[in-house]
Amino acid sequence: MAEMQSEVTWLNKEENEEKEEAEAQVQIWKYIFGFVELSVVKCAIQLGIADAIEKHKKPISLLELSSTLKCDPSYLNRIMRFLVHRKIFKTISTNHNNYLSYVQTPLSRRLIQNGEHSMAAFLLLESSPVMVAPWLNLSDRVLINGNPSFKKVHGEDVWRYAASNLNHSNLINNAMACDTRAVVPVIIEGCSELFDGVKSMVDVGGGNGTTLNILVKAFSWIQGINFDLAHVIDVAPKCDGVEHVAGDMFTSVPKAEIVFLKWVLHDWGDEECIQILKNCREAIPKENGKVIIVEAVIEKEGGEKHNKYEDVGLMLDMVMMAHTNIGKERTLKEWEYVIHMAGFNTITVKSINAVQSVIVASD
Ligand SMILES: C[S@@+](CC[C@H](N)C(=O)[O-])C[C@H]1O[C@@H](n2cnc3c(N)ncnc32)[C@H](O)[C@@H]1O
Repeated sequence: MAEMQSEVTWLNKEENEEKEEAEAQVQIWKYIFGFVELSVVKCAIQLGIADAIEKHKKPISLLELSSTLKCDPSYLNRIMRFLVHRKIFKTISTNHNNYLSYVQTPLSRRLIQNGEHSMAAFLLLESSPVMVAPWLNLSDRVLINGNPSFKKVHGEDVWRYAASNLNHSNLINNAMACDTRAVVPVIIEGCSELFDGVKSMVDVGGGNGTTLNILVKAFSWIQGINFDLAHVIDVAPKCDGVEHVAGDMFTSVPKAEIVFLKWVLHDWGDEECIQILKNCREAIPKENGKVIIVEAVIEKEGGEKHNKYEDVGLMLDMVMMAHTNIGKERTLKEWEYVIHMAGFNTITVKSINAVQSVIVASD
């Protein structure tokens, strides 16, 4: 009996190995041509394919689309074939002829420039030559005494580079605003109690002020301060209920009841995070002050099966490795460490429908 069982196990093992081998033969191409997806989607954004289909307001044929976009139909056909295969656009057959026409999907709507759910600016930032170049040196970062990839290529860290290259700074601000427009409404829906009766709030590293713009509209009793480096504040659009203040969070943070920090701490190492958080702690009242941190918590219990954003969190961690000096995504334990070291006693973490969670630190 035992002999038979081990024979079955052996056969299963062989079968599994064969299956894995067959899968690997196909899967490897995904990595060899990993850049193709990003490049073709970027091409679609640059051509304005999703914008044109949206404007057309009904299914659009290849000839209509190529004439609108002034594209060569045979090249555009190949681009669309790829994107339809990836289910980014869909085809349907229209009644009056047998030709297929293209229609939008929820995914393609995210490629509309300035659309409600647009993530186009984010994709344009990540696929810009400035952001792509550091990836080509990633292995150097990992070596003992290795160099930060972005600094090695561009001579300075991403924020100094942005300060002297305002076009790139603009790309960053617009990209961050895409994520903010998606995430802040989710925070408002899931954590509105955090903002009850709050009179003042400072968004540290708040970029062009999109977060506060949305929050002061939802909670009109909040007076907002958008705090960022001077080159970001100089071009931030005016917004009722929000004051733009330039400064350096490593020196001090403007005083308010709540400090909001979204996607700022992951750009930095533990020591820097502790310094920033200490400055935030000084900025809030001892009694009812709070620091709201909106960041990914990676390696959550339950893993990928229970957290659909787990893979995005791990990709973001690689992005931090390529684009910042010592930034990283953190596990719950790592968050607890930096927050406690900054002097906070209480930490609560709430999952939301986003790659980030809402971490609240208070005394
Ligand atoms: C990844 S972006 C996040 C922007 C915004 N919080 C969001 O999520 O949309 C990080 C922000 O931190 C700002 N920043 C970097 N160093 C800073 C400093 N020393 N003081 C204040 N802001 C800083 C950058 O200019 C940038 O706007």
